[in-house]
Amino acid sequence: MSETLKLDLSRSLLGPQTITASQAELEAAKNRLWSGKEPFTGWVNLPFAYDKMELKEILAAAEKIRKQCEVLIVIGIGGSYLGAQAAISALKAGNDSAPEIYFAGQNLSGTYHKELLEKIKGRELCLCVISKSGTTTESSVAFSILKDELYRKYGREEAAKRIYAITDAEKGILREETNREGYVSFVIPDDIGGRYSVLTAVGLLPIAVAGIDVPAMLKGAECAAEASKDEKADASMLAATRVSLLNSGKTIEIYEYYEPKLQYFAEWLKQLFGESEGKDGKGIFPAALQFSTDLHSMGQFLQDGNQIFFETVLNVLNPPEDLIVPESAGELLAGRSMNAINQAAVEGVIAAHEATGVPIIKLDIPALTPHCFGQLVYFFETACALSGYLNGVNPFDQPGVESYKSEMRKVLQSK
Ligand code: PA5
Repeated sequence: MSETLKLDLSRSLLGPQTITASQAELEAAKNRLWSGKEPFTGWVNLPFAYDKMELKEILAAAEKIRKQCEVLIVIGIGGSYLGAQAAISALKAGNDSAPEIYFAGQNLSGTYHKELLEKIKGRELCLCVISKSGTTTESSVAFSILKDELYRKYGREEAAKRIYAITDAEKGILREETNREGYVSFVIPDDIGGRYSVLTAVGLLPIAVAGIDVPAMLKGAECAAEASKDEKADASMLAATRVSLLNSGKTIEIYEYYEPKLQYFAEWLKQLFGESEGKDGKGIFPAALQFSTDLHSMGQFLQDGNQIFFETVLNVLNPPEDLIVPESAGELLAGRSMNAINQAAVEGVIAAHEATGVPIIKLDIPALTPHCFGQLVYFFETACALSGYLNGVNPFDQPGVESYKSEMRKVLQSK
């Protein structure tokens, strides 16, 4: 079985639309990304230059956590948790003896966090707190609540041995506390932003705790990095296609997946593209739908509604498990595998939507393996960064997110 992603753009540009970015513009964007001179592009060469010593330390810390606890709570928001949740949801096998992994600090709900405290009662705990700035409200609130729980359970000294911190090398309150309390810690590199940090300690530590083969994931990313250098690399062609679709009035991209295990990967994609491209009044609005579930709700709109969108299908060719449908299901379905019926849905939906003129991009994912996941991460990061450059925005900042944070602080100060 080939382990390489396969991009199909043959149904992406219908009618008179053509690729609007010239080869020269695309080359310029690529050169800029690979120049090593642009801010926040540390992730570009990461798969070739991974710090082996650090990787060893991450894997050792993960092994220690696996022995120390029954439950690991990963505290972080946005780029500080979505990549890990995406990988764990896509790849973690149900029968592994790894600690259960929960996420906290990705919302400000008292109900969510109270219920989490209930769930973990009486279980051996560790925390992994992740924040590049070290000052994000959501993660700070959740960390203080869960740290209190740890202090009550183990006392301050033992609690410190159960807290793992991933943050800036020097700046921020979390770094100060980490140094003061002696937590095991890892650094988020200065030149890698939150949503591009899955392949740093930010993603790798929780992913390794979940028992997922991290070296295989990094190898997958390296393969995608190698492939992305080609003149007509898929990531470049995807970027050029997306920008052309935007220029032709398609302002919404819908990520569609038929394997529920990809739910958080689609969330990660929404963050990656939404935060990277949506600025200066520009960008494609990223949305995600789970099929065939959402065909019975949003399917109507896609088939018949306002055609302001294009679809990007994430098609897993060999899902991890399968079932054969029994005789009682009737002639058309009996004896078939569920995955074969799911594949028929993929093809049927593409045919139906193509017939109404929806541009469709299809990405075949050979299997839900760490190697494929590593490729997916690097592939989409590259496509996203190049799309941003072609669209004339900085794909690595998020000024809009900063505004809400400061407005929320004002509200808190005024009450
Ligand atoms: O991609 C980003 O930069 C953001 O989504 C951040 O990851 C998110 O806002 C969390 O920030 P921090 O890691 O500083 O707590």
